Amino acid sequence: MSYPVTLQLRGRRCIVLGEGKLAAEKARGLLRAGARLTVIAATPCAELEALQAEPELTLLRRGYAPGDLAGSFLAIDASGDEEINRFSFAEAEERGVLINVVDRPERCDFYAPALVRRGPLSVAISTDGESPFLAGAIRARLERILGEEWGPFTALVGGVRRRLRERGVPIAEQTPVYRRLLRSEIRDHLRDGRTEEARYAATAIETAAGRPRAGTVALVGAGPGDPSLLTLAARELLAEAAVVYHDSLVDPRTLALCGPGARLVDVGKRGGRRSADQGWITGQLIEAARSGEDVVRLKGGDPFVFGRGGEELTALRQAGLEVVVVPGVSSALAAPAAAGIPVTLRGLASSLAVVTGSERDGSSPERLEAIARAADTLVVLMPLSNLEIICARLVAAIGPDRPAALVASATLREQRVVRAPLARITCAAAEAGIASPATLVVGEVVDAIPLQQVGELVASAGVGPGITAVVASAGVRPGIEEVGR
Ligand SMILES: C[S@@+](CC[C@H](N)C(=O)[O-])C[C@H]1O[C@@H](n2cnc3c(N)ncnc32)[C@H](O)[C@@H]1O
Repeated sequence: MSYPVTLQLRGRRCIVLGEGKLAAEKARGLLRAGARLTVIAATPCAELEALQAEPELTLLRRGYAPGDLAGSFLAIDASGDEEINRFSFAEAEERGVLINVVDRPERCDFYAPALVRRGPLSVAISTDGESPFLAGAIRARLERILGEEWGPFTALVGGVRRRLRERGVPIAEQTPVYRRLLRSEIRDHLRDGRTEEARYAATAIETAAGRPRAGTVALVGAGPGDPSLLTLAARELLAEAAVVYHDSLVDPRTLALCGPGARLVDVGKRGGRRSADQGWITGQLIEAARSGEDVVRLKGGDPFVFGRGGEELTALRQAGLEVVVVPGVSSALAAPAAAGIPVTLRGLASSLAVVTGSERDGSSPERLEAIARAADTLVVLMPLSNLEIICARLVAAIGPDRPAALVASATLREQRVVRAPLARITCAAAEAGIASPATLVVGEVVDAIPLQQVGELVASAGVGPGITAVVASAGVRPGIEEVGR
């Protein structure tokens, strides 16, 4: 494994061998770093010719000759010529010159990392010469995450840091300032060209340094399970939170996105398990924020869809705290989508109702029947504990033949889907061993699009008469899909 450093090349003599575009690219990079550069190229390409005006560049129009590396600090051989590569490497070794022979990792003292540059901020990506392609692909991803606003933002944070140091503000009081700058809306202002507003916001945070302040609370939706369905805002808040109070169902891969110093508290409420009292949870959020911690309350799906997020928001606002709400992808929509069931479809379904199957959360038989009759597609969350009763009510309201599906562990590898007419879905679910968390979808849309069979057929034994089990691609992740017919 190599040792990552960035080199100070200002005024140092460097040399590039080669006459093509790659040599020109390397030359440009070295000139940008302030090197005194010699390029040796018998027939320089147009890009190299264009660099001739650079005062720090000497272009020698000839081939490489042993001895050319004398007095250099660093050399890059971009000639692509095996013989030159061999000689240049041997000469560099002998003279103690740092050398990189392009595309020959075994002949490199250093590897040029792929770079993301945003003003004073540089992110270098190195694969120790294993795969420049991979380094480039990762750079492209990082470039999308670190937009141009990170350049002026880094400069602005640097300015705040200089002034805090001049004022003699202790490090322990500086760190919360940087954290607040990072969590603030300043990058949004800079991205949208509102430079004055960005400066104003930064000054407000800077002048409050050292004064006790309450932390903020973010009510954040974690989506249905698959971490790739988290919003960018959720990712950023998780990375910066001091403490994260999360539901039990939140995927460990999502929790792994929290910062290394973050305190993780499982306050999950799962059926049949002793769970934290809602009042206790709200009290914890308030206490942590009042002590100055930036808090994330991370909830499965969307925080305001049967997630008690509304009650928490009310209590936090009453406590006078600053609260942000970050919506999440609700399983009410994600579960049918991941099973390939469109909840609305032209000519078939133009209305959708989402209800709870849990009486504790407000389900009532009369309302359920009325809603089922009124909506084209019905999505029932928390259906399993009362599945038989719910289905009996629905059969009474809309008949036994309305297509139904249960989607369990949607978007996760363990995703399972059972489809059957309403009158048989309870039986099919029991035979297939459908377990929590699961979402019930009822409506003609369930059968609208034929199941995509991409996998091998699994034996139907154990699943029930007339019920076919197949391995199918069921959404963002492949999973086992069981079709009851
Ligand atoms: C207390 S509710 C919370 C809903 C959540 N706030 C949301 O928007 O998805 C929990 C119910 O969501 C559904 N659910 C959550 N995750 C799921 C998943 N991965 N697959 C299917 N259903 C899920 C189940 O019906 C579960 O009983």
